[in-house]
Amino acid sequence: MKLNICVLPGDGIGPEVTREALRVLKFVAESQGYDFRFTERAIGGTAIKQFGSPLPQPTIETCHKSDAVLLGAVGSPEFDNLAADKRPEAGLLGLRKALGGFANLRPAIAYQPIADCSPIKAEVLGKSDILFIRELLGGLYFGQPRGFEGNRDAAFNTMRYTVEEIERVGRVAFELARKRRKKVTSVDKANVLETSQLWREVITCLGKEYPDVKLDHMYVDACSMKIITSPTSFDVVLTENLFGDILTDEAAAISGSLGMLASATIGGKIDLFEPVHGSAPDIAGKGLANPLGAIASAAMLLRHTAKLENDARDVEDAIQEVLRAGYRTPDIKGKSKYVLSTEQMGKMVEQKLAEALDRRRAYHAV
Ligand code: IPM
Ligand code: MN
Repeated sequence: MKLNICVLPGDGIGPEVTREALRVLKFVAESQGYDFRFTERAIGGTAIKQFGSPLPQPTIETCHKSDAVLLGAVGSPEFDNLAADKRPEAGLLGLRKALGGFANLRPAIAYQPIADCSPIKAEVLGKSDILFIRELLGGLYFGQPRGFEGNRDAAFNTMRYTVEEIERVGRVAFELARKRRKKVTSVDKANVLETSQLWREVITCLGKEYPDVKLDHMYVDACSMKIITSPTSFDVVLTENLFGDILTDEAAAISGSLGMLASATIGGKIDLFEPVHGSAPDIAGKGLANPLGAIASAAMLLRHTAKLENDARDVEDAIQEVLRAGYRTPDIKGKSKYVLSTEQMGKMVEQKLAEALDRRRAYHAV
């Protein structure tokens, strides 16, 4: 198994959490005899400083030559005054567009049996396991026209969706729901927005091709409440770009912290993997960041790009093991038995992974 991975650590805590994800990927490669090659490139504020652009040409070129891209985070307050298209975030949005992935998969799971990671009551949380599918290349993020008017006395953005854009991401949701609990909740604001009315029409029509999958529709405001009051009622949640951005930060409460959520962006030329959290400049460089979202994103890379389902699951089990044993980074709520730094947490996942492999080898040896 050979894999070229372009690594974009980015800004703030991005480099710290990416380092731990790489530690785990390298361990998987060494222990299984895979040939993983990593090429690091600049993006975001770091790239602005080095190259004068948040998405320099060498970064795009290396990404296009790779099998997958692993990204840390972008964003830095020192660039807050720049125009939207010059900021670090523009580098990430440009990259998403260039790689073409339109379906952003964001799982939010209640790690078991350690419900104390989540601020949600254990009896409400249950065995929550939601897969959010966020449309990633349309809506307000990319719609034209956009801009300011006059002397910045007004501003506007455009929310636009084509039938094709809705259908292709909808298909990903139905296909994935088939492999899970066979339920899709499509989230929109069809009582107000035309884009949402079209969204609902297209998804309803598509749903007829998947009679084995139960489809329901929900308004985004109602959904945002239900995620907290009844998280076990969801399986796959399908929604447009901005709604998905907001709902998945909220859904981080299910796992326990924004630092724990992973994401995979698929459907385009090159798959992109990144934790859901941002660059958290306030804690950058202090060893306080939670690397589990980045490590879980690496597991998604093993699953979706490398098709190494067993290795992906091993990494996810190791994360679970670490949490079950009571290890926490400071962002995770609840009674922390052992509080670890970013690096210690990465090493702990590696250790649990090593122990699991040893156990398996010992079992096969007898
Ligand atoms: C995310 C982030 C990005 C987004 C930002 C950094 C542009 O919040 O991946 O959720 O809004 O998509
Ligand atoms: Mn976000």
